[in-house]
Amino acid sequence: MSERKKTPETLRSHRWYGKTDMRSFGHRSRTLQMGFSHEDYKGKPVIAIINTWSDISHCHSHFRERAEDVKRGVWQAGGFPLEMPAITLAEVMQKPTTMMYRNFLAMETEELLRSYPVDGCVLMGGCDKTGPALLMGALSMNLPSIFVPAGPMLTGRWAGKALGSGSDVWKYWDELRAGNITQRDWDDIEAGIARSPGTCMTMGTASTMTGIIETLGFSLPNASAIPAPDSNHSRMGSYSGRRIVEMVWEDLKPRDIITPRSVDNAIKVLMALGGSTNALIHVVAIARRAGIDLNLDHFEAIGKRTPYLVNMRPAGQYLMEDFYYAGGLTALLEGMRDLLDTGELTCTGRTLGENIAGARIHNTEVIRTPANPIRPDGGLVVLRGNLAPDGAVLKANAADPRLLTHTGRAVVFDDYNDMAARIDTPELDVDADSVLVLRNAGPLGGPGMPEWGMLPIPKKLLKAGVRDMVRISDARMSGTSYGTCVLHVAPESWIGGPLALVKTGDLIELDVPGRQLNVKVSDEELAARRAAWKPKARRFERGYGALFSQHVSQADKGCDFDFLEGMQPTEDPEIH
Ligand code: FES
Repeated sequence: MSERKKTPETLRSHRWYGKTDMRSFGHRSRTLQMGFSHEDYKGKPVIAIINTWSDISHCHSHFRERAEDVKRGVWQAGGFPLEMPAITLAEVMQKPTTMMYRNFLAMETEELLRSYPVDGCVLMGGCDKTGPALLMGALSMNLPSIFVPAGPMLTGRWAGKALGSGSDVWKYWDELRAGNITQRDWDDIEAGIARSPGTCMTMGTASTMTGIIETLGFSLPNASAIPAPDSNHSRMGSYSGRRIVEMVWEDLKPRDIITPRSVDNAIKVLMALGGSTNALIHVVAIARRAGIDLNLDHFEAIGKRTPYLVNMRPAGQYLMEDFYYAGGLTALLEGMRDLLDTGELTCTGRTLGENIAGARIHNTEVIRTPANPIRPDGGLVVLRGNLAPDGAVLKANAADPRLLTHTGRAVVFDDYNDMAARIDTPELDVDADSVLVLRNAGPLGGPGMPEWGMLPIPKKLLKAGVRDMVRISDARMSGTSYGTCVLHVAPESWIGGPLALVKTGDLIELDVPGRQLNVKVSDEELAARRAAWKPKARRFERGYGALFSQHVSQADKGCDFDFLEGMQPTEDPEIH
């Protein structure tokens, strides 16, 4: 442990437990009521374990027992653990999308930490939006914080093949619709693809974001790569519990850890991982919570000079178990050390460079080095043009290279239901060169930017052997998805962004080398269409939906609430 900066009397929790007034009597007597004696907590750091477990949280089904591992570590180090449940964001279960509730969990995290006698916290998350949400809340509250990632699930299996979360669902769904596999095959895939607790084991949003959070300095070294059922994961939980107690004594807080340089490290790792497009939204939101302004052009600039190094689905071949056995995140970081700012402080109290020193790559098929990259650049590109004045993103390394420079006739769907009703109809006027456009799927239109951006290939084209087309939307797509899908078009169509003005039959030009996305319609014609466009009615008049509608920002700004970005932590109220 580094130098102790806190004493029992200067702990935040002392204001609840250490005084001699009537309120403190209540705090102590109610803690005794729960079966804890004074010796259990007196003068000790109180550690909140923010647990996103629930019966519907499929990726976090091991978090009940993992919280016990964390508590064991907290007790061992002389802390007092308090498990606090927070809202579940179960990615595939929650409608319209967990993204609508990311800011809800962030607010809940911040307010749990603020309103209770907490000195530090362990953030337990992993399933897509949970990691960013927990970290955003912790950054706003700025109490010592460590992140325990849920860890990826085991590799899926079917008919002697490895199955990857999400990626192989899309792949075999297309084969089923094309008549190339049977219903029996599909049922067996359903039973074999999610074989253990843990997050999606492809390089989807969960693995991308837990890797990024570790790179930022908020998890123990290599924590993000450990498969959820591995005994190393239990030990990582208890180590994290021990470490957070030390972090409280050292007064090592989130805003001591996150810096513009650590954010740049995180973006480089995003590119090296070939990570999820969702990260472009979450990293912006995380950085802005800490007062670090970040825009899409910065991703583009870093992406151009950072190689793609990890051969994992959906862009590559392998899965998270393979990544862990190949050395995991520390091995990747050590291999790309020269590209990183290794002097950045982390939750260990040491620098990133010290954390990764000596980590080795055990399988160069899975993890490459910059001397032998899969691609010389990151593969996540930012597009602009008259269709996306504020930007759009594309995962070029998961797209058919043939389509990266393409002009085609737009086939426009006004919303998801319109698309679902017409995409497979024989009369849909579409061919392999068409550009599928989905609108009203953005932050306000979705609402919450559901992961609809990988529009299905029309059935008649699937049967003809087509497996990729240019697709454009203001939606997101799952990190496990693939294809030539232009996403996050900003501003979104719901508020009158240019996607709202496109008509079926317009020519759309995608030029990835030139980073351009344009509809080939004159400015005069677009102006006439804009004049005729009518704004939509608000989706929500009450409740959280109304708050969301009034305050959520566009995709290029991170989709945070405007009243939560970039501010100093709210001062603790004087406790009476
Ligand atoms: Fe939870 Fe993919 S559904 S990480």
